[in-house]
Amino acid sequence: MTAADPLAPAAVRAAYDRRARLYDGVVLGLSAGLDGLYRRLAIEALAPRAGDRVLDVGCGTGLNLPLLRPRVGAGGRLVALDASAGMLRAAAASARAGRTRGAALVRADGARLPLRSGCADAVLSTYTVTTTPDPLAAAEEMLRVCRPGGRLVLTDDRLPAGWFLGPVALLRGLRLRGWRDTRTALARLLRRACGAVASREWHGGLLFLLGARRPSG
Ligand SMILES: C[S@@+](CC[C@H](N)C(=O)[O-])C[C@H]1O[C@@H](n2cnc3c(N)ncnc32)[C@H](O)[C@@H]1O
Repeated sequence: MTAADPLAPAAVRAAYDRRARLYDGVVLGLSAGLDGLYRRLAIEALAPRAGDRVLDVGCGTGLNLPLLRPRVGAGGRLVALDASAGMLRAAAASARAGRTRGAALVRADGARLPLRSGCADAVLSTYTVTTTPDPLAAAEEMLRVCRPGGRLVLTDDRLPAGWFLGPVALLRGLRLRGWRDTRTALARLLRRACGAVASREWHGGLLFLLGARRPSG
C-alpha cells in the first residue's frame, strides 16, 4: 500500500466521514431505488433467526439494521461495526430517530475484528469488502468470527477498486491494482471454506451476492 493508494484505510475512513451525511440518498439514487430490495434479498439469504447474534461489518449509516432487528427479535443481538466515525454518527442519529433499535455500534477495522472466533451466528457485509485493500483477508476475518454452522453473506460490486472515491481515485486504483474480479475470488474462498456457495447477480453481474454456511464441525 502506498500513500496514494485510494484504498489506504485512512483515505477510505476520511472519504466516508465526509460522505456520511449524503450517503443514504446517494445509495438510493445509484441503485435506481432498488437498494432496499437488494438489502432484503441479502437478509433473506442470511436467514437470521430469533435470538441470533448478528454482526454487520462496515455497517455504514446502518441501513441494514431496521431489516435485521425484526428477524432477530428483542432477544437477538446486533453488532454494527464500521471504521468511519462519521458513518457511525449517522447510524446513531438514525437510531435516535427511531429507525433502528438496540444495535451496538462499534468503531473498528473490519479486517481485524475485535471479536473472539465463532462469536456470531450470522455475519453480513454489504458493499464493504471491496473498499478494503484485501477483500479476501476481510472475508476470512468474517469467517473467523462466524460460529461453525453460522452464515456469512456478502454483497458488493465489481467496479474497479476506489471508484466510489471519484475519478482520480478510480484511475489510481486501476494503475495500482488493475481490475480484479473480486466476486470470483471471494466465491472460491467461500467454496473452499464452506463447500456450497449461494450466488446471485444483478445488473449484468455488476452487483453480486454470495452466501455460505460454515461447516458445523
Ligand atoms: C459503501 S459503504 C457500505 C455501508 C453499508 N454496509 C451499506 O450497505 O450501506 C462502505 C462502508 O465500509 C466502511 N469500511 C471501509 N473499510 C472498512 C474497514 N476496513 N473496516 C470497517 N469498515 C470499513 C466504510 O466506512 C463505509 O461505511
